[in-house]
Amino acid sequence: MELRQIGTALAEVQRGGKICIISDRNVASLYMDICRESLEEAGYGVWEYVLPPGEASKNGTNYLRILEYLAAVPFTRSDGIVALGGGMVGDLAGFAAATYMRGINVYQVPTTLLAAVDSSVGGKTAIDLPSGKNLAGAFHQPKLVLQDSRLLNTLPSDVYREGMAEVIKYGMIHDRKLFKRLENPTEVRNSLDEVIETCVGIKKEYVEADEFDRGLRHKLNFGHTLGHAMEQAEGYRLSHGDAVAKGMYWITRISAEQGWCSRETLAALEQLLRKYDFNLTLPENREEIYRILCSDKKRQGDTIRMVIPEEVGRCAIREFHIREVKDLL
Ligand SMILES: NC(=O)c1ccc[n+]([C@@H]2O[C@H](COP(=O)([O-])OP(=O)(O)OC[C@H]3O[C@@H](n4cnc5c(N)ncnc54)[C@H](O)[C@@H]3O)[C@@H](O)[C@H]2O)c1
Repeated sequence: MELRQIGTALAEVQRGGKICIISDRNVASLYMDICRESLEEAGYGVWEYVLPPGEASKNGTNYLRILEYLAAVPFTRSDGIVALGGGMVGDLAGFAAATYMRGINVYQVPTTLLAAVDSSVGGKTAIDLPSGKNLAGAFHQPKLVLQDSRLLNTLPSDVYREGMAEVIKYGMIHDRKLFKRLENPTEVRNSLDEVIETCVGIKKEYVEADEFDRGLRHKLNFGHTLGHAMEQAEGYRLSHGDAVAKGMYWITRISAEQGWCSRETLAALEQLLRKYDFNLTLPENREEIYRILCSDKKRQGDTIRMVIPEEVGRCAIREFHIREVKDLL
Protein backbone atom coordinates (compact mmCIF):
# COMPACT_ATOMS: atom_id res chain seq x y z
CA MET A 1 0.00 0.00 0.00
CA GLU A 2 1.20 3.54 -0.71
CA LEU A 3 1.73 6.18 1.98
CA ARG A 4 -0.80 8.45 0.27
CA GLN A 5 -3.46 5.83 1.08
CA ILE A 6 -2.80 5.89 4.83
CA GLY A 7 -6.03 7.80 5.53
CA THR A 8 -8.12 5.07 3.91
CA ALA A 9 -6.11 2.32 5.64
CA LEU A 10 -6.58 3.90 9.07
CA ALA A 11 -10.32 4.25 8.60
CA GLU A 12 -10.48 0.45 9.11
CA VAL A 13 -8.92 0.66 12.58
CA GLN A 14 -9.66 4.14 14.01
CA ARG A 15 -12.95 5.92 13.45
CA GLY A 16 -12.19 9.65 13.28
CA GLY A 17 -10.42 11.54 16.05
CA LYS A 18 -6.87 12.81 16.25
CA ILE A 19 -3.60 11.48 14.91
CA CYS A 20 -0.15 12.62 15.98
CA ILE A 21 2.47 11.90 13.30
CA ILE A 22 5.84 11.41 14.98
CA SER A 23 8.83 11.56 12.68
CA ASP A 24 12.42 12.76 12.43
CA ARG A 25 13.57 15.82 10.47
CA ASN A 26 14.98 13.87 7.51
CA VAL A 27 11.90 11.74 7.02
CA ALA A 28 9.48 14.59 7.74
CA SER A 29 11.04 16.75 5.03
CA LEU A 30 10.38 13.98 2.51
CA TYR A 31 7.10 12.39 3.56
CA MET A 32 5.26 14.41 6.23
CA ASP A 33 3.09 16.34 3.76
CA ILE A 34 1.91 13.21 1.91
CA CYS A 35 1.05 11.53 5.21
CA ARG A 36 -0.70 14.58 6.69
CA GLU A 37 -2.75 15.29 3.53
CA SER A 38 -3.98 11.70 3.27
CA LEU A 39 -5.03 11.68 6.94
CA GLU A 40 -6.74 15.07 6.70
CA GLU A 41 -8.61 13.98 3.56
CA ALA A 42 -9.89 10.99 5.53
CA GLY A 43 -11.23 13.40 8.18
CA TYR A 44 -8.64 13.07 10.98
CA GLY A 45 -7.36 16.01 13.00
CA VAL A 46 -3.59 15.86 12.47
CA TRP A 47 -0.74 16.97 14.78
CA GLU A 48 2.98 16.65 14.04
CA TYR A 49 5.92 15.99 16.35
CA VAL A 50 9.32 16.12 14.65
CA LEU A 51 12.59 15.01 16.31
CA PRO A 52 16.23 15.45 15.39
CA PRO A 53 17.39 12.34 13.48
CA GLY A 54 19.66 9.74 15.09
CA GLU A 55 19.76 7.26 17.97
CA ALA A 56 20.49 10.04 20.48
CA SER A 57 16.86 11.19 20.12
CA LYS A 58 15.52 7.86 21.48
CA ASN A 59 15.84 9.12 25.04
CA GLY A 60 13.82 9.78 28.17
CA THR A 61 13.66 13.55 27.65
CA ASN A 62 12.05 13.28 24.21
CA TYR A 63 9.75 10.53 25.46
CA LEU A 64 8.38 12.77 28.25
CA ARG A 65 8.14 15.75 25.88
CA ILE A 66 5.96 13.70 23.52
CA LEU A 67 3.68 12.66 26.40
CA GLU A 68 3.37 16.31 27.50
CA TYR A 69 2.64 17.35 23.90
CA LEU A 70 -0.14 14.75 23.61
CA ALA A 71 -1.59 15.80 26.97
CA ALA A 72 -1.56 19.49 26.05
CA VAL A 73 -3.61 19.01 22.84
CA PRO A 74 -5.24 16.90 24.51
CA PHE A 75 -5.14 13.39 22.99
CA THR A 76 -7.58 10.85 24.43
CA ARG A 77 -7.55 7.05 24.50
CA SER A 78 -9.45 6.85 21.20
CA ASP A 79 -6.80 8.90 19.34
CA GLY A 80 -3.66 7.42 17.79
CA ILE A 81 -0.02 7.89 16.84
CA VAL A 82 1.54 7.33 13.42
CA ALA A 83 5.25 6.46 13.68
CA LEU A 84 6.65 7.69 10.36
CA GLY A 85 10.32 6.76 10.21
CA GLY A 86 13.01 4.22 10.93
CA GLY A 87 13.53 2.12 14.04
CA MET A 88 14.44 5.13 16.19
CA VAL A 89 11.10 6.84 15.56
CA GLY A 90 9.19 3.53 15.67
CA ASP A 91 10.62 2.55 19.06
CA LEU A 92 10.16 5.97 20.68
CA ALA A 93 6.70 6.68 19.24
CA GLY A 94 5.66 3.10 20.04
CA PHE A 95 6.75 3.48 23.68
CA ALA A 96 4.91 6.80 23.97
CA ALA A 97 1.78 5.11 22.55
CA ALA A 98 2.19 2.14 24.89
CA THR A 99 2.24 4.33 27.98
CA TYR A 100 0.20 7.49 27.21
CA MET A 101 -3.02 7.07 29.20
CA ARG A 102 -2.01 3.40 29.69
CA GLY A 103 -1.95 2.79 25.94
CA ILE A 104 -3.31 4.28 22.73
CA ASN A 105 -3.10 2.92 19.19
CA VAL A 106 0.13 3.13 17.24
CA TYR A 107 0.37 2.75 13.47
CA GLN A 108 3.84 2.03 12.10
CA VAL A 109 5.03 3.38 8.75
CA PRO A 110 8.59 2.04 8.35
CA THR A 111 10.87 4.18 6.17
CA THR A 112 14.13 2.23 6.58
CA LEU A 113 14.86 -1.34 5.54
CA LEU A 114 15.58 -2.23 9.16
CA ALA A 115 12.23 -0.87 10.29
CA ALA A 116 10.40 -2.58 7.41
CA VAL A 117 11.80 -6.05 8.12
CA ASP A 118 12.20 -5.86 11.86
CA SER A 119 11.37 -3.05 14.26
CA SER A 120 7.91 -2.11 12.90
CA VAL A 121 6.69 -5.67 13.44
CA GLY A 122 6.44 -7.57 16.70
CA GLY A 123 5.45 -4.91 19.20
CA LYS A 124 8.75 -4.22 20.99
CA THR A 125 9.04 -0.53 21.86
CA ALA A 126 11.76 1.17 23.87
CA ILE A 127 13.94 4.13 24.73
CA ASP A 128 17.61 4.14 25.67
CA LEU A 129 18.77 5.09 29.17
CA PRO A 130 22.21 6.56 29.92
CA SER A 131 23.20 3.13 31.30
CA GLY A 132 22.15 1.15 28.24
CA LYS A 133 20.15 0.65 25.09
CA ASN A 134 16.43 -0.16 25.14
CA LEU A 135 16.41 -0.36 28.94
CA ALA A 136 12.92 1.11 29.32
CA GLY A 137 10.25 -0.28 27.05
CA ALA A 138 7.01 -2.16 26.61
CA PHE A 139 5.37 -4.70 24.38
CA HIS A 140 2.75 -2.81 22.38
CA GLN A 141 1.55 -4.27 19.09
CA PRO A 142 0.88 -1.77 16.27
CA LYS A 143 -2.73 -1.78 15.09
CA LEU A 144 -1.44 -1.36 11.53
CA VAL A 145 1.89 -1.52 9.69
CA LEU A 146 1.85 0.28 6.36
CA GLN A 147 4.59 -1.14 4.13
CA ASP A 148 5.44 1.10 1.18
CA SER A 149 8.85 0.06 -0.15
CA ARG A 150 8.97 3.16 -2.41
CA LEU A 151 9.79 5.14 0.74
CA LEU A 152 13.11 3.28 0.87
CA ASN A 153 14.23 4.78 -2.45
CA THR A 154 15.52 7.88 -0.66
CA LEU A 155 17.60 5.93 1.90
CA PRO A 156 21.29 6.80 2.10
CA SER A 157 23.31 3.72 1.04
CA ASP A 158 24.76 3.22 4.55
CA VAL A 159 21.30 3.09 6.10
CA TYR A 160 20.16 0.58 3.45
CA ARG A 161 23.23 -1.58 4.18
CA GLU A 162 22.54 -1.47 7.92
CA GLY A 163 19.04 -2.89 7.26
CA MET A 164 20.58 -5.68 5.20
CA ALA A 165 22.23 -6.99 8.38
CA GLU A 166 18.78 -7.88 9.74
CA VAL A 167 17.75 -9.40 6.39
CA ILE A 168 20.88 -11.60 6.41
CA LYS A 169 20.01 -12.55 10.00
CA TYR A 170 16.67 -14.03 8.87
CA GLY A 171 18.46 -16.07 6.21
CA MET A 172 21.00 -17.36 8.75
CA ILE A 173 18.57 -18.33 11.49
CA HIS A 174 15.67 -19.63 9.45
CA ASP A 175 15.72 -19.55 5.66
CA ARG A 176 18.47 -21.00 3.51
CA LYS A 177 16.62 -20.03 0.32
CA LEU A 178 16.48 -16.38 1.39
CA PHE A 179 20.19 -16.52 2.28
CA LYS A 180 21.00 -17.79 -1.24
CA ARG A 181 18.83 -15.11 -2.81
CA LEU A 182 20.76 -12.39 -0.95
CA GLU A 183 23.91 -13.40 -2.81
CA ASN A 184 22.68 -11.20 -5.67
CA PRO A 185 22.37 -7.62 -4.27
CA THR A 186 20.95 -6.17 -7.50
CA GLU A 187 18.21 -8.77 -7.65
CA VAL A 188 17.44 -8.06 -3.97
CA ARG A 189 17.13 -4.31 -4.63
CA ASN A 190 14.82 -5.02 -7.58
CA SER A 191 12.53 -7.31 -5.63
CA LEU A 192 12.59 -5.61 -2.25
CA ASP A 193 8.85 -6.07 -1.65
CA GLU A 194 9.18 -9.86 -1.82
CA VAL A 195 12.29 -9.88 0.38
CA ILE A 196 10.57 -7.69 2.99
CA GLU A 197 7.49 -9.92 2.90
CA THR A 198 9.62 -13.04 3.49
CA CYS A 199 11.39 -11.42 6.45
CA VAL A 200 8.16 -10.13 7.99
CA GLY A 201 6.65 -13.62 7.56
CA ILE A 202 9.55 -15.15 9.51
CA LYS A 203 9.36 -12.50 12.23
CA LYS A 204 5.59 -13.02 12.59
CA GLU A 205 6.09 -16.76 12.99
CA TYR A 206 8.49 -16.26 15.92
CA VAL A 207 6.44 -13.47 17.51
CA GLU A 208 3.19 -15.43 17.30
CA ALA A 209 4.88 -18.42 18.94
CA ASP A 210 6.47 -16.34 21.72
CA GLU A 211 5.15 -12.77 21.88
CA PHE A 212 6.87 -11.85 25.15
CA ASP A 213 10.32 -13.17 24.26
CA ARG A 214 10.56 -16.00 26.79
CA GLY A 215 11.97 -18.66 24.46
CA LEU A 216 11.82 -19.12 20.69
CA ARG A 217 11.69 -15.38 19.88
CA HIS A 218 15.15 -15.10 21.35
CA LYS A 219 16.49 -16.63 18.12
CA LEU A 220 15.79 -13.27 16.47
CA ASN A 221 18.63 -11.96 18.62
CA PHE A 222 21.26 -13.78 16.57
CA GLY A 223 24.27 -11.45 16.48
CA HIS A 224 22.56 -8.98 18.79
CA THR A 225 23.99 -9.96 22.19
CA LEU A 226 27.56 -9.33 21.02
CA GLY A 227 26.35 -6.55 18.68
CA HIS A 228 24.62 -4.54 21.42
CA ALA A 229 27.69 -4.86 23.65
CA MET A 230 29.89 -3.56 20.80
CA GLU A 231 27.46 -0.72 20.07
CA GLN A 232 27.54 0.36 23.70
CA ALA A 233 31.30 -0.12 24.07
CA GLU A 234 31.77 2.17 21.04
CA GLY A 235 29.51 4.82 22.58
CA TYR A 236 26.90 4.25 19.81
CA ARG A 237 29.26 5.55 17.09
CA LEU A 238 28.73 2.10 15.58
CA SER A 239 25.25 1.83 14.01
CA HIS A 240 22.86 -0.94 15.07
CA GLY A 241 23.09 -2.71 11.69
CA ASP A 242 26.89 -2.56 11.53
CA ALA A 243 27.09 -3.87 15.10
CA VAL A 244 24.69 -6.74 14.34
CA ALA A 245 26.78 -7.69 11.29
CA LYS A 246 29.93 -7.82 13.45
CA GLY A 247 28.02 -9.69 16.17
CA MET A 248 26.76 -12.33 13.70
CA TYR A 249 30.20 -12.77 12.20
CA TRP A 250 32.04 -13.11 15.52
CA ILE A 251 29.59 -15.50 17.17
CA THR A 252 29.75 -17.62 14.01
CA ARG A 253 33.54 -17.49 14.01
CA ILE A 254 33.59 -18.60 17.66
CA SER A 255 31.07 -21.35 16.77
CA ALA A 256 33.22 -22.59 13.89
CA GLU A 257 36.30 -22.63 16.16
CA GLN A 258 34.37 -24.61 18.79
CA GLY A 259 32.96 -27.04 16.20
CA TRP A 260 29.32 -25.96 16.74
CA CYS A 261 29.05 -25.10 13.06
CA SER A 262 31.22 -25.84 10.05
CA ARG A 263 33.96 -23.65 8.55
CA GLU A 264 31.81 -23.58 5.37
CA THR A 265 28.95 -21.92 7.31
CA LEU A 266 31.35 -19.25 8.56
CA ALA A 267 32.77 -18.75 5.04
CA ALA A 268 29.28 -18.39 3.52
CA LEU A 269 28.27 -15.78 6.11
CA GLU A 270 31.54 -13.86 5.79
CA GLN A 271 31.27 -13.79 2.00
CA LEU A 272 27.71 -12.50 2.12
CA LEU A 273 28.44 -9.81 4.71
CA ARG A 274 31.45 -8.62 2.69
CA LYS A 275 29.30 -8.49 -0.45
CA TYR A 276 27.24 -5.82 1.33
CA ASP A 277 30.42 -3.99 2.43
CA PHE A 278 30.22 -4.73 6.14
CA ASN A 279 33.37 -4.10 8.15
CA LEU A 280 33.81 -7.19 10.34
CA THR A 281 36.72 -6.06 12.51
CA LEU A 282 36.21 -6.64 16.24
CA PRO A 283 36.38 -3.32 18.13
CA GLU A 284 39.62 -2.92 20.11
CA ASN A 285 38.04 -2.54 23.53
CA ARG A 286 37.32 -6.23 24.22
CA GLU A 287 37.51 -5.83 28.00
CA GLU A 288 34.70 -3.26 27.79
CA ILE A 289 32.63 -5.54 25.54
CA TYR A 290 33.05 -8.34 28.06
CA ARG A 291 32.17 -6.01 30.95
CA ILE A 292 28.95 -4.95 29.19
CA LEU A 293 28.06 -8.54 28.29
CA CYS A 294 28.40 -9.46 31.92
CA SER A 295 26.52 -6.45 33.26
CA ASP A 296 23.42 -7.38 35.23
CA LYS A 297 21.11 -6.45 32.37
CA LYS A 298 22.56 -9.04 30.02
CA ARG A 299 22.81 -11.86 32.52
CA GLN A 300 20.54 -14.53 33.87
CA GLY A 301 22.34 -15.39 37.11
CA ASP A 302 25.84 -16.43 36.10
CA THR A 303 24.89 -17.25 32.54
CA ILE A 304 24.43 -15.37 29.27
CA ARG A 305 22.10 -16.64 26.57
CA MET A 306 23.35 -16.45 22.99
CA VAL A 307 22.13 -17.67 19.62
CA ILE A 308 24.52 -20.05 17.89
CA PRO A 309 24.37 -20.83 14.17
CA GLU A 310 24.32 -24.57 13.39
CA GLU A 311 24.25 -24.16 9.61
CA VAL A 312 22.87 -21.59 7.17
CA GLY A 313 19.11 -21.52 7.90
CA ARG A 314 19.30 -23.16 11.35
CA CYS A 315 20.35 -21.94 14.81
CA ALA A 316 20.06 -22.85 18.48
CA ILE A 317 19.86 -20.98 21.78
CA ARG A 318 22.73 -21.76 24.16
CA GLU A 319 23.49 -20.70 27.73
CA PHE A 320 27.07 -19.79 28.58
CA HIS A 321 28.68 -19.35 31.99
CA ILE A 322 30.24 -15.87 32.16
CA ARG A 323 33.71 -17.39 32.65
CA GLU A 324 33.23 -19.34 29.42
CA VAL A 325 32.30 -16.13 27.57
CA LYS A 326 35.58 -14.53 28.67
CA ASP A 327 37.55 -17.49 27.30
CA LEU A 328 35.59 -17.47 24.05
CA LEU A 329 36.13 -13.76 23.48
N1 LIG B 1 11.69 -2.69 18.19
C1 LIG B 1 12.41 -3.61 17.60
O1 LIG B 1 12.03 -4.79 17.50
C2 LIG B 1 13.74 -3.22 16.98
C3 LIG B 1 14.43 -4.12 16.18
C4 LIG B 1 15.62 -3.70 15.58
C5 LIG B 1 16.11 -2.41 15.81
N2 LIG B 1 15.40 -1.56 16.62
C6 LIG B 1 15.87 -0.18 16.86
O2 LIG B 1 15.85 0.51 15.61
C7 LIG B 1 16.77 1.61 15.70
C8 LIG B 1 17.55 1.71 14.41
O3 LIG B 1 16.64 1.96 13.37
P1 LIG B 1 17.11 2.44 11.91
O4 LIG B 1 18.29 1.65 11.51
O5 LIG B 1 15.91 2.43 11.08
O6 LIG B 1 17.69 3.90 12.19
P2 LIG B 1 17.01 5.35 12.26
O7 LIG B 1 15.58 5.29 12.55
O8 LIG B 1 17.87 6.13 13.18
O9 LIG B 1 17.20 5.89 10.75
C9 LIG B 1 18.51 5.99 10.21
C10 LIG B 1 18.67 7.27 9.40
O10 LIG B 1 17.93 7.17 8.19
C11 LIG B 1 17.12 8.33 8.00
N3 LIG B 1 15.96 7.91 7.22
C12 LIG B 1 14.97 7.10 7.63
N4 LIG B 1 14.15 6.82 6.62
C13 LIG B 1 14.60 7.49 5.54
C14 LIG B 1 14.18 7.59 4.19
N5 LIG B 1 13.14 6.88 3.72
N6 LIG B 1 14.88 8.39 3.36
C15 LIG B 1 15.96 9.07 3.80
N7 LIG B 1 16.42 8.99 5.06
C16 LIG B 1 15.76 8.21 5.92
C17 LIG B 1 16.83 8.82 9.40
O11 LIG B 1 16.51 10.18 9.41
C18 LIG B 1 18.16 8.53 10.10
O12 LIG B 1 19.05 9.57 9.86
C19 LIG B 1 17.62 1.36 16.92
O13 LIG B 1 17.20 2.23 17.94
C20 LIG B 1 17.30 -0.08 17.32
O14 LIG B 1 17.41 -0.31 18.69
C21 LIG B 1 14.23 -1.94 17.21
